[in-house]
Amino acid sequence: MAKSAMSENLSDSKHQTTPTLINAYKKWAQGGSGLLFTGNIMIDKTALGEPRNVVVENGFSEKGLKEWGQLCQAHDVHIWPQLNHPGRQAMEQINKELLAPSAVPLIYPGRKSASKKIPRALKNDEILKIIDAYGNAALILKNNGFTGVQIHGAHGYLVSQFLSPNTNIREDDWGGDIHQRSKFVVEVYRNIRKKVGADFPIGIKLNSTDFQKGGFTEEESMEVVKILSAEGMDLIEISGGTYEAPAMMGYKKKSTREREAYFLDYIQKARKITSTPLMLTGGFRHKENMERAIESGDVDLIGVARPYCIFPNMVNDMFNNTSDYFPTKVNKTGVKAIDAGLSIFWYEAQIKLIGENKKPQPNLSGWKVFMNYLSIIMKKKLS
Ligand SMILES: Cc1cc2nc3c(=O)[nH]c(=O)nc-3n(C[C@H](O)[C@H](O)[C@H](O)COP(=O)(O)O)c2cc1C
Repeated sequence: MAKSAMSENLSDSKHQTTPTLINAYKKWAQGGSGLLFTGNIMIDKTALGEPRNVVVENGFSEKGLKEWGQLCQAHDVHIWPQLNHPGRQAMEQINKELLAPSAVPLIYPGRKSASKKIPRALKNDEILKIIDAYGNAALILKNNGFTGVQIHGAHGYLVSQFLSPNTNIREDDWGGDIHQRSKFVVEVYRNIRKKVGADFPIGIKLNSTDFQKGGFTEEESMEVVKILSAEGMDLIEISGGTYEAPAMMGYKKKSTREREAYFLDYIQKARKITSTPLMLTGGFRHKENMERAIESGDVDLIGVARPYCIFPNMVNDMFNNTSDYFPTKVNKTGVKAIDAGLSIFWYEAQIKLIGENKKPQPNLSGWKVFMNYLSIIMKKKLS
């Protein structure tokens, strides 16, 4: 059982860890899981996904990282930080400039026109610098006691932008067919491997597809699985979707059968082309369905995210037969534009409660969460 990555938005104003963040992981570490992925940690302070992301980069304070990493030894659990650069999905309000493989703006779901903030296409030397930053962050985290790292290669962030023909229209070595578009992720992997050594596990979260016309297809994703398996990737987690088409949250599910384990069909095919351990994330809520997926032999690890925010002890509860169903439901405001954000912010507010030694609140007001979030953005803008 693995807790999949969830952005916590719980750093301090300097993007360093806080006691609340570390305490949330302590609670999860005591909850019975084998592996906890952290929420995405930024490898570059000038490219933030959210106002309170933790940043890990050379020359940056490592405050609290040791305490966080030491939870692995103290609780006999793996914690793998997820490394991310958001590219064009960096939060517009708090980043001076958006950088991406190509100058293709984002279209948020429900909006007719593209964002006015057009990303700037990365120059070759900037790409090399970012690749190096992934490796540097991984080494810092290894030295602070974490037991592996995960590259965020899914959900429309920078790695995923390089993989997609919609967002990577480069005509140099970094663009072209799927082998060329994979060059970025391969170089990221190699840079990390060179720095952390052969024995330190490296995983990736990868999209099964982008669920977008003209985007990264299932066939291309399978090709990337082959390429990364040959490189020596230790674990591949399967998800899907982007900000523009958020399939990872279940919005693209078609039938009752797909209501749990959104990407099961894909993983069954991927199992046939790789012997690399596979983790499946998205939709699992019933113990019975998790057991079935493991028994099929197609899946090595069950990844779960949102239920950990409401049931931090869920894995112990399953193994002790205390509970076998972990549903979650956002307390929405009824305003579409706000509720889209709440599908993340509401869960982050629950993580904060866990970190403050309080009980999660399934009835927590969506309006209250939204107003708090706005004030965090304003503080970041003014800082
Ligand atoms: C609050 C929140 C933050 C998330 N942040 C991340 C993230 O940082 N990295 C990532 O790969 N996925 C992130 N996700 C997606 C989850 O890892 C997962 O793929 C998705 O929620 C589907 O799994 P679930 O149905 O078990 O929740 C986030 C989801 C939520 C609810």
